[in-house]
Amino acid sequence: MGKVLSVTEAVDVLLQGQIVGLPTETVYGLGADATNESAVAQVFIAKNRPRFDPLIVHVPTLAAVREIAELSEAAEQLFLAFSPGPLTVVLPKKDTIPDLVTSGHPTVAVRIPAHPLMLSVLQSSGLYIAAPSANPFGFASPTTAQHVLDQLGNLISGVVDGGPCSIGIESTIVDMSSDAPKVLRLGGMALEQLERVLGPISTQLSSSNPNAPGMLTSHYNPGAPVELFNDREALLAALQLEDSDAIGILYWGETIAHASSFNLSEQRSDLEAACNLFKGLRLIGRAPVTRIYVHLLPEYGLGRAVNDRLQRAANK
Ligand code: TXA
Ligand code: MG
Repeated sequence: MGKVLSVTEAVDVLLQGQIVGLPTETVYGLGADATNESAVAQVFIAKNRPRFDPLIVHVPTLAAVREIAELSEAAEQLFLAFSPGPLTVVLPKKDTIPDLVTSGHPTVAVRIPAHPLMLSVLQSSGLYIAAPSANPFGFASPTTAQHVLDQLGNLISGVVDGGPCSIGIESTIVDMSSDAPKVLRLGGMALEQLERVLGPISTQLSSSNPNAPGMLTSHYNPGAPVELFNDREALLAALQLEDSDAIGILYWGETIAHASSFNLSEQRSDLEAACNLFKGLRLIGRAPVTRIYVHLLPEYGLGRAVNDRLQRAANK
């Protein structure tokens, strides 16, 4: 049964080829030694994750990025500007990383996470750590150690408790493996910030993109059907027409007096809303409701990444 582990205990578990829950600033990861194929296989099994969906490899430094990937000048600029932080860069891979990690792709997704405990685990183990988000495939990502224990506790030896994640949604993924950079996943690093370094950048987010096989249109299942509203008034009007106790609402801005509801950010902050998103989806999903109404955020900053996840949660 999984329990809370110290950094030293987690390092021992990883060096023995077992898997462990680890905190990052975005969401909790389920970590394995990226060079140990049997450890990596345990990650796919514990998450019930299809083998065609490649894993992100976490490293502590730019020097370590060079050990596992071909680093172009432009990619180096990105790392220098934004790492450690909520950014993952897809680069041509080197042979240090087994094909199982990248699902046979010639590229590897690399990230330097900003969480101090994750950095200690990376530094004291000397490992490259393959880690997807520590949730069963298709469900909300964990933003506390308790979420990891609740969802995967009986399948892992434990989790390092680094407190609630400060960003709360997964990293932004940028494909820098060709001359034209592309955003494959909206996440904790706002597009506007990336564009300050890279210039205008295209996005390719759909599930049909063979380069981001994990970006399925249906994901983050909260347990009840989700309906999206662009407009607060429309959501409130729809609520009037229903047996409103059977409806959960996930919203932002001024408080709405309603039994099963969760305010992502009363202050209307995109950062706060991102940080609360998965907690909100979990709480509303556990409430006795048959449907969930969601008020989407304005499309700027992390609002885009939050809306992207809400749209996936609404797809069946
Ligand atoms: O914030 C994060 O990125 C968290 C923390 C733990 O670091 N990790 C995370 O991993 O969100 P995961 O496995 O839930 O999402 C990884 C995404 C998947 O959509 C996968 O398809 C994509 O990264 N990916 C991984 N390797 C790739 C590659 N070589 N090319 C394109 N996409 C890749
Ligand atoms: Mg995930």
